[in-house]
Amino acid sequence: MNIGVFDSGIGGLTVMEEIVRLLPNYDYIFYGDQKNNPYGEKTDEELLNITSSIVDYLISRDCHIIVIACNTATTRCMKKLRVKYPDIVFIGTVPAVKVACDNDSRNTLVLATPATIHSERVQELILDNKKETQNIYLAPCYGLANAIEFNENDKIDMILLDLHDTYIDKNIDCIVLGCTHYPYIKDSIQSLFPDAVLVDGNNGVAREVRHQLQLMDRYEESDTVGTVEIIFDRK
Ligand code: DGL
Repeated sequence: MNIGVFDSGIGGLTVMEEIVRLLPNYDYIFYGDQKNNPYGEKTDEELLNITSSIVDYLISRDCHIIVIACNTATTRCMKKLRVKYPDIVFIGTVPAVKVACDNDSRNTLVLATPATIHSERVQELILDNKKETQNIYLAPCYGLANAIEFNENDKIDMILLDLHDTYIDKNIDCIVLGCTHYPYIKDSIQSLFPDAVLVDGNNGVAREVRHQLQLMDRYEESDTVGTVEIIFDRK
């Protein structure tokens, strides 16, 4: 059995790294769908078509567990994928709103793609976790994941400065990196909001993979190191 992991590009590798660190003795196939990047500005129908063909491919490569290493695809189509592929165990990535709320942050800023920010799933996360005394600000970051994917540094700086100007007077003490591409620019975000703690959900995803392996009775600790195959579907 292989474990499949996919995203619209390099973002998913930040999730994959955590999974492999926790579970090094399994075999992984990573699929970076760069040719369809950005996911965060696509319709639900487009996303379901795109992700279904990746899932078909990963199933053909003997993946029984598939990690959606992308907040956008998780919040917009994981439920539909679970219905379409009932035999596959899907593990998704959602913005770490719960972590921020559990840490008793007062003013949390969630950075994510427009599709994630406007999803029902994010509203559910807020409803389930936010205490009355807490404020959560949602920032749809148009173009940011795409600029990170293709290394467009001027564009990244422009988007970050705009975020800074919009939220600097909100006393932000926690920033949720709600897109798996954003850990790559962690240092730049931190320098603009030096008092904020930055959180992402990647470690939680890795622990969930372990939990699912345990439920499937396929969990084993061993000194052997598995394989990692990385496929990039480029433009
Ligand atoms: N890395 C993805 C996410 O976590 C998607 C970025 C994109 O393609 O827009 O949302």
